[in-house]
Amino acid sequence: MNFQYILVEPRYEQHIALIRLNRPKELNALCLELMAEVRDALKALDADDEVRAIVLTGNERAFAAGADIKQMAGKTAIDMLLIDQFTTWDTIKKIKKPIIAAVSGFALGGGNELVMHCDMVVASETAMFGQPEIKIGVMPGAGGTQRLTRVVGKVNAMEMVLTGKFITAERAYELGLVNKVVPVELYLEEAVKLAREVAQQSPLAIRLAKEAVLKAYDSPLSEGLEFERKNFYLLFATEDQKEGMAAFVEKRAPDFKGR
Ligand code: HXC
Repeated sequence: MNFQYILVEPRYEQHIALIRLNRPKELNALCLELMAEVRDALKALDADDEVRAIVLTGNERAFAAGADIKQMAGKTAIDMLLIDQFTTWDTIKKIKKPIIAAVSGFALGGGNELVMHCDMVVASETAMFGQPEIKIGVMPGAGGTQRLTRVVGKVNAMEMVLTGKFITAERAYELGLVNKVVPVELYLEEAVKLAREVAQQSPLAIRLAKEAVLKAYDSPLSEGLEFERKNFYLLFATEDQKEGMAAFVEKRAPDFKGR
């Protein structure tokens, strides 16, 4: 897959794909073209049967320092409305395969919002998270006020959104924004390790389980539980359920086929 602003390795290792944001001089600022490429790459990987988990990363200095301020600076409200960039983000939200963010350096504004579109997050000790839009006269627009509040709670979200202050990886871990903090030389490796653990499972079970966990954000408990139950029943229609349970009984490792 050939792109201008990202590097994509669909076969990074067996069943694992890697997307690397690649505008290093601009700290991976998320220009519209880069986001469109991320969307297109994710859609292609979502449709690729060989891929069971996707790792999304930047570089050591920056995951992404936010939307491209230079690209936005002269825009009017109507320009922004017509550009309709959030349709791209909505597509990313709908990716069915698990996405693991490997974050080092800055994850700011849209960068932090992109991290929150991922399903799990491994951070390096040097990672910094923030929603600094307030300092440039605006506010988060890709879910920052909503997803962040659900994850870290009202007062912590308010502090980040209203002051624009960054938080460290350690603080992000305490707040539940990241799964794990590791030394900088290990953040990608650890994210891939997590991807590997996910990729070993039945892809169908992973897909329906991800869908059910995400449902918890969007629905009352009773509706989420009903949804979970239907997905749980549905998995008994899969060969992988038969294989997984037979393997347990026979004391061997399962061989999941994604059917
Ligand atoms: C465009 C950016 C950028 C951005 C950095 N750069 N962030 N360009 N958009 N968001 C560019 C700088 O202009 C500079 O290029 C180069 O990257 C290196 O950045 P420096 O500022 O020189 O580095 P440093 O002094 O280390 O400071 C790093 C930083 C700072 C603290 C991350 O760059 C910064 O505050 N960036 C903006 C962060 C931010 O406000 N993000 C939110 C954006 S709004 P040149 O060529 O000038 O040297 C947003 C809204 C999302 O995300 C809405 C939905 C999509």
